Amino acid sequence: MPASRLDRYSTVAIVLHWLIAAAIVLQILLAWRMDDLHTPLGFALTQLHKSVGITVLFLSLARLGWRLANPPPPMVGLTGWERALAHITHIGFYVIMIGMPLTGWIMVSASRIAIPTLLYGVIPWPHVPGIAELAPAAKTGWREFGHESHEWLAYGAYLLIGLHVAGALKHQLFDRDQPVLARMAPGAKPGRWFDPRLLAIAGGALVVLAFAEFLKPPLPASAPAAPTAHDEMEMDEAPAAKPASAAPAAGAAPAAAPAAMAAPQPLSHWAVAPGSTLGFATTWGGQAIEGRFDTWTADITFSPDQLDKSKVSVSIDIASIKTGDAQRDDSLPSADWFDAASHPKATFVADRFEKTGEERYVAKGKLTLRGVTKPLSLPFRLKIDGDKARMSGVTTLDRTAFGVGQGEWQATDQIPAGVKVSVKLTATRK
Ligand code: HEM
Ligand code: HEM
Repeated sequence: MPASRLDRYSTVAIVLHWLIAAAIVLQILLAWRMDDLHTPLGFALTQLHKSVGITVLFLSLARLGWRLANPPPPMVGLTGWERALAHITHIGFYVIMIGMPLTGWIMVSASRIAIPTLLYGVIPWPHVPGIAELAPAAKTGWREFGHESHEWLAYGAYLLIGLHVAGALKHQLFDRDQPVLARMAPGAKPGRWFDPRLLAIAGGALVVLAFAEFLKPPLPASAPAAPTAHDEMEMDEAPAAKPASAAPAAGAAPAAAPAAMAAPQPLSHWAVAPGSTLGFATTWGGQAIEGRFDTWTADITFSPDQLDKSKVSVSIDIASIKTGDAQRDDSLPSADWFDAASHPKATFVADRFEKTGEERYVAKGKLTLRGVTKPLSLPFRLKIDGDKARMSGVTTLDRTAFGVGQGEWQATDQIPAGVKVSVKLTATRK
């Protein structure tokens, strides 16, 4: 580094000052837009707020280290109280620059649902070691501490920014002989109202404002539907007007006989083929969310002609949930949602089947989810072709009846109670 100059900050200090200043103003504006963290937009803005906040932490530590090694230029020409006020403001700023990210980090680490932090959607960022694993009561204490201090530091930041900018402007606009702005924006001429440096700072502030106000962060996405082997068969469509009894063309084989006349089906065990899907659909703040469970098994004993002896049990691995957003997927197994630690599996056992129409049935049984067992009916369509069966069914269940969504997530204004569950599978006779 060149020998330190007495009339201005070093270039490193200047670059860090303006980067940190822009990021802090951005943080405050983003925070004002976050309001409701339970909406998809609030969630996405909070993810960005966390990312920028952690960036500020690193920049500020770098700034502090640089400052300790490279003391700032001496303050000359200021009166005693001006110097004292500037010192207090600067120290206060360091408390804010480091304290805000730390309290924010504590707050999210102690959150009821441990939403993981992916900086800028890419870099995994841990929770404060020790806090996320604490018992709920201790966690609440940390959460409140983090929240309260984040809020108080925010008030402090508003005050300091007001004082700091007022001080810089006063010297720049009214004190011709005191180059203060020039120490942080070299070249600025004190006493000049439309100094290009000052205009650049004002322009920069407007850009940050517009960015924070109009930014549309990518909202958490939905799980892309897993490609299925039987998508070509739309079983949910109205029954195709397919003539079961083919026109009696000359020489038509009796194989074309109506299904009703086919030989009774034996009671068989069925193996679920790969490509079968177990999905669900809901909405969050009006935005459609589709998800699926990637790991589940089904034990199927079924014959359309021996419904009374048929039985199906499905076991679903809760942790295999996918909704298209890594951060959301990591939080869904937490205690506020599925509580996978205590209830790693959900099960559906159906032992009563009714035929409701041509290739249409309803399976009645019990769903156990998050430790709660409730009756559930699953209407489905089934087509058996030799040793291959294709089935699809859709039902709706009330997530609140199973305690999926605790605390503030119990409310159904953002995420409705009714969740549509759909199964599509192909199976082969064992
Ligand atoms: C809003 C976020 C801001 C923060 C957190 C901030 C923080 C700081 C800090 C900590 C210092 C002491 C020097 C250092 O260690 O870097 C400083 C100095 C300075 N800042 Fe800011 N600043 C902010 C915004 C601004 C703005 C908007 C202006 C101009 C309008 C400005 C003008 C200055 C000037 C001229 C100095 C040098 C003061 C001197 O030592 O004579 N700052 N700032
Ligand atoms: C320089 C860094 C930061 C600044 C200036 C800042 C500023 C703010 C402000 C002004 C608020 C609104 C406070 C209120 O009135 O309630 C806020 C809220 C919030 N901040 Fe930060 N923040 C920073 C860093 C962080 C970090 C690093 C995180 C997390 C890792 C974080 C997480 C949050 C959360 C979750 C809220 C919402 C709290 C609530 O539920 O009301 N912040 N932040």
